[in-house]
Amino acid sequence: MKKIEPSDKLKDLPPYLFSSINALKAEAYKKKLDVIDLGMGNPDLVTPKHIVERLCDTVMNHQKTHRYPQAKGMPRFRRAVSQWMNKRFNVDIDPNNEIVTLIGSKEGIAHLCTTYIDSGDLALFCDPGYLVHYNGIILAGGQVHRVPLLEENKFLPDLKSIPEEVAKKAKLFFVGYPHNPTTAVVEDKKFFIELIEFCRKYGILLAYDNAYSEVTFDGYRAPSIFEFPGARDVAIEFHSFSKSFNMCGWRIGWACGAKELLYPFENLKSYVDFGVPTFVQLAAVAALEGSQDCIKQRNEIYQRRRDKMVEGLNKMGWNIEPPKATMYLWAKLPEQFLKMGSLAFSEKLIKETGVVVAPGVAFGKYGESYVRMALVTHDNRFHDALLRIKKFIK
Ligand SMILES: Cc1ncc(COP(=O)(O)O)c(C=O)c1O
Repeated sequence: MKKIEPSDKLKDLPPYLFSSINALKAEAYKKKLDVIDLGMGNPDLVTPKHIVERLCDTVMNHQKTHRYPQAKGMPRFRRAVSQWMNKRFNVDIDPNNEIVTLIGSKEGIAHLCTTYIDSGDLALFCDPGYLVHYNGIILAGGQVHRVPLLEENKFLPDLKSIPEEVAKKAKLFFVGYPHNPTTAVVEDKKFFIELIEFCRKYGILLAYDNAYSEVTFDGYRAPSIFEFPGARDVAIEFHSFSKSFNMCGWRIGWACGAKELLYPFENLKSYVDFGVPTFVQLAAVAALEGSQDCIKQRNEIYQRRRDKMVEGLNKMGWNIEPPKATMYLWAKLPEQFLKMGSLAFSEKLIKETGVVVAPGVAFGKYGESYVRMALVTHDNRFHDALLRIKKFIK
């Protein structure tokens, strides 16, 4: 019998650099060590009560919602999304043709790649970035061109540095601010105009990942790409309930964009999934239509954690600007650890202190020299985390 082999596409995926961190974390838990986990972006805060109540009521009392859902999302959900987009960003999105429900935006991002990328096609990945942007391209059989996000460019892609022949060949460009992992936001709106112009000039689909649009501080307001002229010709925007409403485990999000761009994606998805359970969609409607105070209150908690950690780390020699968005810190390693590299630093930190952080290099080669700390543990753990890090770097 010939050997049963997985596809070459799987072999082309980069090594999963979180695996050694996850193994060390599991070892620490096994030894009953006191782990402080700032590694994964998995919010510790619970889903607001009115959303949970809506789910429970729907499951209990509306048995029709136990049946197969409508793949692209029920009309009620798409209407709520359209109204929310209008209220939040002042943009018009047709609920009938311009919205598709996603089983979390991760699923949507991967399937967008399958929809638009053929074997050998080129796509642009902002490095460091959310790994599914990269892996989705590879799994679709495409090739990746890395666009570095550098601190001196405020972690924005330098469009002029993308070679003309690469731009001409590229089919897809993943961009998203507020940005994971760098926490960068766009302050100068000219960036969006230039980005859209770039994509229009070269005929590139702009996949705009807005997963963190609602996790912002200090009065910063994250825009939708559709607030800018010309975006409808080239962009599909991704939204997620995971970070906006602390609903990571519920697996729901949406993609929106002009019918011509969105329809092939909706069509592909209709072959591979049935969408999101109807009761989850109805609970998500409660999130969109209910009071948005829960977002404000949650952001106040993240902001408090951010301030405590930034102040504490800077006092011991780190140099971190308080981020205006996301529940992460993107911290350049102190000088004396630069040679060691972010993976070895993170491994040593967990082994010696039980504090888990994500090595920057796990998000792409331009993430080296940084670590990402997710502010997703109980408020009273940050003091302890700071003490341990202080002792460690001494
Ligand atoms: C930038 C970005 N996009 C998308 C996602 C996926 O979110 P979800 O699949 O939970 O909607 C994440 C999750 O961490 C993310 O950081």
